[in-house]
Amino acid sequence: MAPSGDNTVANVHSGIDSTNKTLLKSDALYTYILDTTVFPREHECMRDLRLITDKHPWGYMQSSSDEAQLLGMLIKMAGAKKTIEVGVFTGYSLLATALALPEDGKVVAIDTDRECYEVGRPFIEKAGMAHKVDFREGTGLERLDELLVEDDGAASYDFAFVDADKPNYVRYHEQLLKLVRVGGTIIYDNTLWGGTVAQLAIADGVTICRRIV
Ligand SMILES: C[S@@+](CC[C@H](N)C(=O)[O-])C[C@H]1O[C@@H](n2cnc3c(N)ncnc32)[C@H](O)[C@@H]1O
Repeated sequence: MAPSGDNTVANVHSGIDSTNKTLLKSDALYTYILDTTVFPREHECMRDLRLITDKHPWGYMQSSSDEAQLLGMLIKMAGAKKTIEVGVFTGYSLLATALALPEDGKVVAIDTDRECYEVGRPFIEKAGMAHKVDFREGTGLERLDELLVEDDGAASYDFAFVDADKPNYVRYHEQLLKLVRVGGTIIYDNTLWGGTVAQLAIADGVTICRRIV
């Protein structure tokens, strides 16, 4: 899909329903946030990928636009260069990560489903971000074990985002605490799954951890 260059409300609103994971109980308020803050800053390749992914049968899995921008901002604030993502799907949060990284930054992107990643790859390439992405097919647990061997105790990663395989979050945390450096950041998505725990304004619960020892 060619970028339309048209970021009007009518155009971008076609993505609201499937990516609306916010726990805000007012659609009007969420629309206001998207229109005034999120969509005007969305890279055109991210917008095109979001709209294509909305038509995918599993499009509901895509990270929300507000969360993707939060990720990008946190990566920039942290000055992260080496990052990990578990749970790529078609690559919306991956592209947000790659865009936020410096030119020599890298993201190791892990997913069991290469086919979904292939949907997003042309948009990552079009955005000029392919050189930053190291896609690895397989389960998060297996691929992170490999990274632990490659990393060899160096804890060389600055940042990690986990958005897959929720029952194993505790095991990912054990692995990531060895991969992410002291002072680095680990983010877990959907930790308030469906809003049964509390009501927050960013997606449906994002847990942000900073390694301190
Ligand atoms: C919620 S989606 C990720 C959404 C993505 N962050 C985005 O921005 O669109 C979850 C992804 O996790 C993948 N997945 C499921 N189990 C997995 C596992 N054990 N290890 C790695 N990836 C897994 C699925 O194939 C799916 O693409």
